[in-house]
Amino acid sequence: MKKILLALGALAAAAGLGYFGARQFSSDGTPAAAASSESSLAAAAGRASNDGGAALRTATTTGAVLTVKNGESIQAAVGKAKPGDTIQVMPGTYRETVFIDKDNIAIVGIIKDGDWPVMDGERKLNDAILYSGNGIRIENMKIIHFKGNAIMGQSGNNFVIRHNWIVDTGVYGIFPEFAKNGLIEYNVVSGIEDAAIYVGMSDNIQVSHNEVYASVAGIEIENSRHAIVENNMVYDNAGGILTFITPGLPIKTTFDVIIRDNFIVGNNHKNFGAPGSIVSGVPSGTGIIVMAADDVQIENNIIRDNKNAGIIVADHKSFANITIDPEADPSPDRVSIYRNLFANNGYDPISDVKALMALNLTRKGPDVVAVGDGKDSCIVNRSAVKTLNLGSWGACSKTTSMETVSYLLATPVPPRANGPAEQAEAGKRLYSAVCAGCHAYNARMIGPPTQILQVMYADNPQGIADYIANPVKKREDFPAMPPQSHLSPEHRLAVAKYMLEVKN
Ligand code: HEC
Repeated sequence: MKKILLALGALAAAAGLGYFGARQFSSDGTPAAAASSESSLAAAAGRASNDGGAALRTATTTGAVLTVKNGESIQAAVGKAKPGDTIQVMPGTYRETVFIDKDNIAIVGIIKDGDWPVMDGERKLNDAILYSGNGIRIENMKIIHFKGNAIMGQSGNNFVIRHNWIVDTGVYGIFPEFAKNGLIEYNVVSGIEDAAIYVGMSDNIQVSHNEVYASVAGIEIENSRHAIVENNMVYDNAGGILTFITPGLPIKTTFDVIIRDNFIVGNNHKNFGAPGSIVSGVPSGTGIIVMAADDVQIENNIIRDNKNAGIIVADHKSFANITIDPEADPSPDRVSIYRNLFANNGYDPISDVKALMALNLTRKGPDVVAVGDGKDSCIVNRSAVKTLNLGSWGACSKTTSMETVSYLLATPVPPRANGPAEQAEAGKRLYSAVCAGCHAYNARMIGPPTQILQVMYADNPQGIADYIANPVKKREDFPAMPPQSHLSPEHRLAVAKYMLEVKN
């Protein structure tokens, strides 16, 4: 079989999005409709209201309420807060990075008469909110103009991130990494160079009712298991919803992902991902990409006007900028495509897809195209769908994912023990939760590959520990690395040692 490299294709003008007129931003940029009360939330969540995630969805903090006013520091309030406290942030502009290393803290913005609390990175600061505690809840914050992340979680379990409005915050918008049991809902995220909502190396995650647009990738579920992406509006990105195994990360699998009830429309934005990064290989005009992930169910989405293809199912060999990871299975297996509405996809495909069309003697650009290896995948109602190269795909024996209401946990993950075992594991945990967001083993992500750093710093973990506390700019073709001074000296050394040891 011909090897298809899904490189970035030529761009056509973005399709009109009149369809979304009712939900478009008004001229001053205020998003329409914001739900407010808990009860209406539960009702809006509908099917999920009596599920295992109810505990997370209705979580409230029970401690003191600390109020932060314009001109004051959110970080100072975090410093004073005890687990269980809520930090109320009043409307105003906050130019700071907030790091939360305690458990059970809620940061809740107060919106008054349309005025939001705004965190503004002024294109100088890297991150708005970083958390490593469990049970963190972040709501009602407007976050703009950071260079790295709006909200990044580093091994914080049982998190809730909702009702935030995130504009142009660099590489990732909402980015929980290495977490278990978390809910991301009712956020509006745009203008992100990688993924607007990026779930990395996590388990039991729900991403619902978000609006994501004008980003390279809308929603990405990467090296994660048991995730549901539903009821989201995903438009005008280069790629809409991605579920990947990215090679070279400490966790090697992605499976049990459900993508349903989303609007995935007109994802024809120019790909403005960092050159050489994996996401820069996402062909503009693609609704959904499944790369190497297993047991993915795609159901009841409206997938239309994506000029390259509605859905691409690919293995690692077929994708640009991917280095094979010998410990990761490169093939997407058991992908099930149930009933979806497909219309007007593939009207201007990239040249590799065109070549495949020529090979298959069709002039119709695809709703669904498969490239590379993979087994036991299926599609419902195949004759209604413009398929390309599905080869061995059969009809589905099961035709819905609805029996799985939620993968969120009925009982929250227990707090981390702080004993010797956790200390010994800290290096690995922090590497996965913090460094792997930018450093893969043998591939270029945001930072240089770990393999290269191992050679540079052989036998010198203290050198790494010192560098990351206060990184100096070294490489012309890389961005600056943000300081990791929020990690204690012991943790910096532990993570440095682990970085030198890690094998792939
Ligand atoms: C937000 C992305 C990001 C995160 C998170 C990150 N790094 Fe980096 N790192 C970079 C970039 C970008 C560079 C290249 C900087 C340059 O050359 O100026 C880099 C460079 C380095 C270097 C090379 C230093 C040198 O002397 O050339 C080391 C070592 C390193 N990082 C270790 C780490 C460790 C350990 C962690 C986790 C605690 C980490 N990094 C987290 C982006 C990141």
